[in-house]
Amino acid sequence: MLIQYKQYYLHQRPKGPTTDSDVKVRTVEVYSLAEGQLLIKNEYFSLDPAIRGWMDDVPSYMPPIVLGDVIRSSTVGTVVDSKHPDFSAGDMVYGLNGWEEYSLSDGYFLTKVPQDNQFPLHYYLSVFGAVGLTAYFGIHDTAELKAGDTLLMSAAAGAVGSLGGQLAKNMGCHVVGMAGTDDKCQWLMDDLGFDAVINYKTESGNLSAAIAAACPDGVDVYFDNVGGEILDAALLNINSNARIVFCGSISTYNASEPVPGPYNWWQVLAKSAVVKGFLVSNYFEQFETGAGALAQLLTEDKIQFKYEIVDGFDNTLTAFHKLFDGSNTGKLMLKV
Ligand SMILES: NC(=O)c1ccc[n+]([C@@H]2O[C@H](COP(=O)([O-])OP(=O)(O)OC[C@H]3O[C@@H](n4cnc5c(N)ncnc54)[C@H](OP(=O)(O)O)[C@@H]3O)[C@@H](O)[C@H]2O)c1
Repeated sequence: MLIQYKQYYLHQRPKGPTTDSDVKVRTVEVYSLAEGQLLIKNEYFSLDPAIRGWMDDVPSYMPPIVLGDVIRSSTVGTVVDSKHPDFSAGDMVYGLNGWEEYSLSDGYFLTKVPQDNQFPLHYYLSVFGAVGLTAYFGIHDTAELKAGDTLLMSAAAGAVGSLGGQLAKNMGCHVVGMAGTDDKCQWLMDDLGFDAVINYKTESGNLSAAIAAACPDGVDVYFDNVGGEILDAALLNINSNARIVFCGSISTYNASEPVPGPYNWWQVLAKSAVVKGFLVSNYFEQFETGAGALAQLLTEDKIQFKYEIVDGFDNTLTAFHKLFDGSNTGKLMLKV
């Protein structure tokens, strides 16, 4: 036998938050590599809100995870053995694999970390990975922002939101962030230079007025990461010809019943607004350009970002829940 390793697989589809009856651990044995295969020792894997969506049996931009399959996730690691012409032992690689200690890959959707890389390896799951590129292309392209616009960002202290807000600040926009704790709001104002912040939990029930106060000229772009009651409050504050970037809907991912709303959808018509569904994978051809631009901004100290690395394979599910109770601080990853 070549190797034995542990992986998380989907045993049953969760109803509500994921439990260890839904996602279980098993040991996989690999006896040899077939031609075209390689074996990766994963150093980190990514914990993303989208993974919860892939556990449901609903049509989406990717097929649902099949019952019995490994939990799909981005990983970064080292090639330990290869029968693939493009990869050799020792290469550092990142791509779509799974919550597992090792990944057997055919090279599909796998990219080499540049040989002259000077950043920590886990940056390829965070600022140079899907969340960094989501912020980059969402703000620089989909949002059609221009200097002087007001951008309202939800889940603003998270991985996508905190980077996206800073990119919009760099473009000369008035940036307002919504987050779930005073500490997160303080960080957005003091360290990231947001113009105003709203703690959506303490302002619950008063959200529309809080947005109106923080956005005296109305909202030109609402970058929606959460859906639900925040989307409804944002809709009541959009300007004519506003753009709504529909990037995510985390408030609904753990719902066990269909979620009604948005209730203020009429505002899209009333304000001739444009709602754009955003999918980072649509920018695949430009990933290298985006990652290069983000690396440059980091080097020039024009953006900062937070990440949280939870240590230990066995802590994966506990860590995953942090995304949904808001206790993660920045891009959440697991160190295998
Ligand atoms: N479309 C794409 O291609 C694409 C790509 C990547 C990510 N996304 C989406 O972008 C969003 C952010 O992802 P991320 O990876 O950057 O995660 P993240 O923001 O780092 O973490 C999730 C945060 O969402 C907030 N949250 C959780 N439940 C909430 C609720 N019910 N209402 C309001 N806020 C809630 C929490 O912060 P608080 O403490 O502030 O509540 C939590 O920390 C997600 O919706 C994700 O699906 C989309």
